[in-house]
Amino acid sequence: MLNSAVQEAMNKQLNAELYSSYLYLSMAGYFEDSNLRGMANWMKVQAKEEAGHAMKFFSYIVERGGKVALTAIAAPTAKWDSPQAVFEDEYKHECHVSSLINKLVELAAAEKDHASGVFLQWFVKEQVEEEANANEILHQLKMIGDSKQGLFMLDRHLGQRQ
Ligand SMILES: [Fe+2]
Ligand SMILES: [Fe+2]
Repeated sequence: MLNSAVQEAMNKQLNAELYSSYLYLSMAGYFEDSNLRGMANWMKVQAKEEAGHAMKFFSYIVERGGKVALTAIAAPTAKWDSPQAVFEDEYKHECHVSSLINKLVELAAAEKDHASGVFLQWFVKEQVEEEANANEILHQLKMIGDSKQGLFMLDRHLGQRQ
């Protein structure tokens, strides 16, 4: 059984993962609008992955005999100045999510909820990957600078993500 503090925090994280999904879908919309179909594809795949993260929290809450409580998902930004600005936001957002996961780990430890601690380890590892992925693309965009050819090549590459 989940205690109420952990249950509330898990439900909050479920909402945060859905917000991530919504934010990346908004970024996909920006890229579609900019005719960068590869980057749009990359963001759509990322949005699906975030919805999957939300479902992991959903299933875990249920499995532990807790109650899922869904709340409103905040509207994400829809305007960016450049592809680089989008990936800067993605990187910042993933660093923020990492800090949320770390706080959850600390709460689980404080509440002596070892099962939740084990469950959260998957997310600790996932966040390392998420930060690295966003940072890698951000670095590539910085390297490309104003090169339209470079942007075209990167867009084609990101279009391959499944
Ligand atoms: Fe996530
Ligand atoms: Fe991931």
